[in-house]
Amino acid sequence: MDILNAFNEFETSALQSISAAKDADALERVRVEFMGQKNGKVRDLQKLVGTATPEQKPAVGKRFNEVRMSVSAALDARVEQLKTQTTKAASEFDVTLPGERPRIGHLHPIMQVMSEFRELMGRFGFTVVDGPEIEDEHHNFEALNIPEDHPARDPLDNFYIACAATAAGGPVLLRSQTSTVQIRTMENTKPPVRIVSLGRVYRPDTIDATHSCMFHQMEGLMVDRHVTMAQLKTVLSLFARSFLGPDVEIRFRPSFFPFTEPSVEVDMKWGDSWMEIGGAGMVDPNVFAAVGYDPEEFTGFAFGLGIERFCMKHYGVDDIRRFYENDMRFLSQF
Ligand code: FA5
Repeated sequence: MDILNAFNEFETSALQSISAAKDADALERVRVEFMGQKNGKVRDLQKLVGTATPEQKPAVGKRFNEVRMSVSAALDARVEQLKTQTTKAASEFDVTLPGERPRIGHLHPIMQVMSEFRELMGRFGFTVVDGPEIEDEHHNFEALNIPEDHPARDPLDNFYIACAATAAGGPVLLRSQTSTVQIRTMENTKPPVRIVSLGRVYRPDTIDATHSCMFHQMEGLMVDRHVTMAQLKTVLSLFARSFLGPDVEIRFRPSFFPFTEPSVEVDMKWGDSWMEIGGAGMVDPNVFAAVGYDPEEFTGFAFGLGIERFCMKHYGVDDIRRFYENDMRFLSQF
């Protein structure tokens, strides 16, 4: 039947135009073209309904309604589709919105200072060596001239590792100082030696603004013929000035360490008072003997500096605990 064919054609072409409409304006034009009350093509269909014979009328009328409904429904659906597409496009592709900067991390301030220390000491001719954080008593005490009855070996002043002792064949502990690396280096190297070693050390100290139970030290060792105390003082003063600036005030106080003789403690001016930043001295002949160096031929100096204390001075941080709290507001300043 021609009338029904005309309905089918109308429907197919209306549905095609609807899905091809790219935006609300184009869709409105399609609506007017097909469904417009005045001149829409639907008016022509309506006229065709009037031409149907009485037998054709029920089928023609039914199909006319179906076609109108399906085109109207397709128009409505497309309106909704275009709306969500527009909002999506705006939120996803608005190139005028400011971009989000990727957050780039950086090394912890103590690690940054340690890199700088390595670089500075490298310029003074010192090479960097490493040592283990878990140590035996030989390297942490005996070879450093700290005999068995010395108070520094008290279990209450050290972190002994109970479960590891038997496996290692003797007591082991978290090293309490980087001086252990002096011994390990001299055991494996013939003089002359000029090394630094930086790393963590552990002590059950009472925690306060300048003490932590885990902290970092830089050990230095120089052994050669005719090494003097004057050279030790020069290296440490130059190092402190290079890192903290020419105005930093350093003083040396006579002190005692079992592995150096004579020994000094090094202080740095901190406001109106002084802060201890390290210990140092001339390597004790007993230490040379323990590693097989001839104390008649060689002399040497050694020092151990507290890295956190330098960090505090350098960055103006007045409490060591700030470095370990993982507070991003603090850490992101560096
Ligand atoms: C020593 O550890 C010696 N091994 C240093 C040394 C090396 C002397 C070579 C002679 C020759 P002392 O215990 O004083 O020394 O520690 C050295 C530095 O580590 C101190 O001056 C201080 O700056 C830092 N330090 C010590 N204890 C703590 C702590 N609990 N928290 C943070 N820093 C500390």
